[in-house]
Amino acid sequence: MTIIYLDYAATTPVLPEVVDAMLPYFTGLYGNASSTHSAGREARAAIHQARDNIASFVGCAPSQLVFTSGGTESNNMALFGAAAAQAGKGKHIITTQTEHHAVLHTSEHLEKLGYEVTYLPVDTTGRIRLDDLQQALRPDTILISIMYVNNEVGTMQPLQQIGELARSKGIIFHVDAVQALGHIPIDLNRLPVDLMSFSAHKLHGPKGIGALYIAKHAKLEPFMYGGNQERKRRAGTENTAAIAGFSKAVKIIDSNMYEMQQKMEKLRLEMVTRLEQLLGIEQFVINGHPVERLPHILNISFPGVSTESMLMNLDLEGIAAASGSACTSGSLEVSHVLKAMKLSEEVMKSAVRFSFGLGTTSKEIEITAHKIATIVNRIRNN
Ligand SMILES: Cc1ncc(COP(=O)(O)O)c(C=O)c1O
Repeated sequence: MTIIYLDYAATTPVLPEVVDAMLPYFTGLYGNASSTHSAGREARAAIHQARDNIASFVGCAPSQLVFTSGGTESNNMALFGAAAAQAGKGKHIITTQTEHHAVLHTSEHLEKLGYEVTYLPVDTTGRIRLDDLQQALRPDTILISIMYVNNEVGTMQPLQQIGELARSKGIIFHVDAVQALGHIPIDLNRLPVDLMSFSAHKLHGPKGIGALYIAKHAKLEPFMYGGNQERKRRAGTENTAAIAGFSKAVKIIDSNMYEMQQKMEKLRLEMVTRLEQLLGIEQFVINGHPVERLPHILNISFPGVSTESMLMNLDLEGIAAASGSACTSGSLEVSHVLKAMKLSEEVMKSAVRFSFGLGTTSKEIEITAHKIATIVNRIRNN
């Protein structure tokens, strides 16, 4: 059975062109980028080219990008690295209650190491209040880590204002932009951001590769030790094939971003409109911010139908959706994001995340909306 995959926020299929761009580096061009011979030089050239391309896509200098094993490592590197480099200045960190676990669990570990962390609350749409951030600032605050786009509800945080505030106080500002890359233009030349995390597998690149942007003035302690790769900021032989794949994915998305944004808005609208027609507008709730959000993530609650029942029934129909971040789906726990948004119990317990990508079609949306309506009516009438 071919499935209808509506879980692009968890991961995306690797595009065939991306696979083609990676293949040579497994066999013919397998050199180690640190080697001085021609095979090494070829690998090094591929990495240079990829770094130039990805840096130009996000508006930074190539030397400001460090390749990592993905979003999780980038977030860990940013938080541990910035905390360690500035421990002499202070030990207070600010983040939010709705971050991905790659930031939340890292923050919790930093607390064990003696740092103090403030977890900012959010409003019912998932946005922080700038007043709360202002009030949380302390003379010993060394780092603010706030995500660009939430992976469960798609809500965007006010990056510009947060960054300006951080700059005015000389505080390092880290942004987890894993769900933003490829969906919205990012120009690090203009954004008041010091560290930014990226991951390739959310934009049709391979898994296990990502990058961390490090502004020139931002000091980071490396947290991996070994060789001198990545200007001594991240030891370990570079994953040339994955880096080449990441770059190719960025190239493809770069030339399609506007169309992709239009397509995501259209698919989102189609899904909501069809559900309104089939179920009625009062029969479901859209979670997240109505405007300050990216369209590829659509989180909907169907009160009276538990998340698990909906996901299981959809799965039986060949439709893949999610209950939140991939790491917590499968467990019955209510999402920490929806909890932080202080939604009603009924809304939290019936939330499902649909996320769209390049391969999603209007036909798939139509089929999914019909299946959802059938499932909702069946369960509610039982
Ligand atoms: C917002 C966010 N940050 C970080 C990550 C982790 O990225 P990776 O899977 O590349 O480690 C994810 C993945 O779901 C994410 O959505």
